[in-house]
Amino acid sequence: MDRTLQTFTTIRAWREHRATLGEVAFVPTMGALHEGHLALARQALARTPNVVVSIFVNPLQFGQNEDYGRYPRMLERDAALLQSLGVPYLFAPDVAEMYPEPQQFFVEPPERYAAILEGAARPGHFRGVATVVMKLFAIIQPTIALFGKKDYQQLMILRRMVEQFALPITIEAGETVRADDGLALSSRNAYLSPAERQEAPRLFQVLKATADALRSGQGDYAALEQEAIATLARHGWQPDYVAIRRQHDLQPPCCTPPDLAAEPLVVLGAARLGTTRLIDNIEVG
Ligand code: PAJ
Repeated sequence: MDRTLQTFTTIRAWREHRATLGEVAFVPTMGALHEGHLALARQALARTPNVVVSIFVNPLQFGQNEDYGRYPRMLERDAALLQSLGVPYLFAPDVAEMYPEPQQFFVEPPERYAAILEGAARPGHFRGVATVVMKLFAIIQPTIALFGKKDYQQLMILRRMVEQFALPITIEAGETVRADDGLALSSRNAYLSPAERQEAPRLFQVLKATADALRSGQGDYAALEQEAIATLARHGWQPDYVAIRRQHDLQPPCCTPPDLAAEPLVVLGAARLGTTRLIDNIEVG
């Protein structure tokens, strides 16, 4: 079997090849691949040999003052990693291929899901994500698509998008992959100075402490969130939020104290360390 990675940069070339395949499992990414992405690719390969990973830094999902310009780009290295994993296909279009004219049609996720948490901190972000993922789905025509729990709200919104549009695609979630010290792997970790990298696992630690408190039956959600935010701030972080939410729709828990069997929760957090914005979450129950 030919194990060479085939790279497609145009929609037309991929479409022609797609027509020769049955099942296709798809892992969308923005590149600067790390073990979190690779775990999704392995999970995809366990479903079908026809795996396509996309690498596209999507300008639509970045705000004006965000890191679109400095987002790490390392296509050759990424391609080599995918090749070593046995991934057969890479879709790596440039911006002109994806957006030959400014995109004027959008997928607008409901505010209930997209204006909270990440969406509150990053207005328009999930519109940009939903729009590019819908477009990638139309191009790749996958039967399965895989997303990481690291971006919990993104996963929830995309699941609902697929459901509401009745897209013939099965969404699969991948567990968050972490460094040994607990820090969730992220392409943005590359921005951290050595001192910041040492401090960075505190986000996970603080979320874990909150999760443990919930497991032990504490039900003053606001106090737990405030305590977590204060701890981060004390150590030089600028927290955007720490929030205790229900897993299925990311709304506040129905009841206190938590009934984790009836209503599983998730603790989500986002905070800036220097100029780097990190997010993480832990499921509880
Ligand atoms: P990106 O940040 O590159 O992430 C691509 C996929 O990898 C997402 O599904 C994300 O949740 C997953 N991922 C990232 N870090 C992970 C980790 N530590 N453990 C497990 N999975 C991890 O998310 C995006 O790109 C974009 O928004 C995209 C969906 C590609 C649309 O542009």
